[in-house]
Amino acid sequence: MNFYIMTLFPDMVMNGLGTSITGRAIEKGAIGVEAVNIRDYAINRHGQVDDAPYGGGAGQVMLAAPIIDCYEALCARIGRRPRVLYMTPQGRVFNQTVARELASEEDLVFLCGHYEGVDERTLEILNTENLSIGDYVLTGGELPAMVMIDCISRLVPGVLHNDASAEIESFHDNLLEYPQYSRPEEYRGMKVPEVLLSGHHKNIETWRRLESVRRTFDRRPDLLAGANLSKKESEYLAELRAEAAGEFSAEDF
Ligand code: ADE
Repeated sequence: MNFYIMTLFPDMVMNGLGTSITGRAIEKGAIGVEAVNIRDYAINRHGQVDDAPYGGGAGQVMLAAPIIDCYEALCARIGRRPRVLYMTPQGRVFNQTVARELASEEDLVFLCGHYEGVDERTLEILNTENLSIGDYVLTGGELPAMVMIDCISRLVPGVLHNDASAEIESFHDNLLEYPQYSRPEEYRGMKVPEVLLSGHHKNIETWRRLESVRRTFDRRPDLLAGANLSKKESEYLAELRAEAAGEFSAEDF
């Protein structure tokens, strides 16, 4: 899978994604990451890529022409016209479901804005899909693009050592991941749960699923509506709910 990032700060993106797991995935050829410098398509020899907004107001707006020319040159070079994702706090909020959907693409282009955003016509011409990483405002789209590329990459076969670990984790099946433990068996008087030392795989799996249910109930109860629970897991959830309701009413007195 290939990621193309249209940006004014190519080093920021390449330095970040060239490190750790994504860096190794690039080296192995499991993913391709290329930052394309919008400034290479500046409108004049001063390297101009932005200008003041019509109608007045603070800041600069990124011009349409350098971005469109940058995209067209990229398409001509690779012989395809990938979807363009525009990084903006006004977009649909990115999550694991969006990541799974995007992971099925062969190529993706990320458009990173800066300053007061980009000329609106750019977004219409490129038919961008607007994506946000949350309800807060950053100085540019590079960090959001890196967040999304990191998340999508780990769903691409060959990026993680163990492909199973991409799915057995938080948000799989709308449940948070169960707690993990490693050596030693006892640390500062705190013991690893007995079942994990038993070697009994079925019991371990059952315990982990119930812990996932409990964690999700404690930390992200909003996710539970979309979880697929067995009869035993639903009963456990009902117990947790009853317990919490009991605690609540006891506190009232
Ligand atoms: N650009 C600035 N803030 C952003 C956000 N929260 N998500 C995506 N792009 C952004």
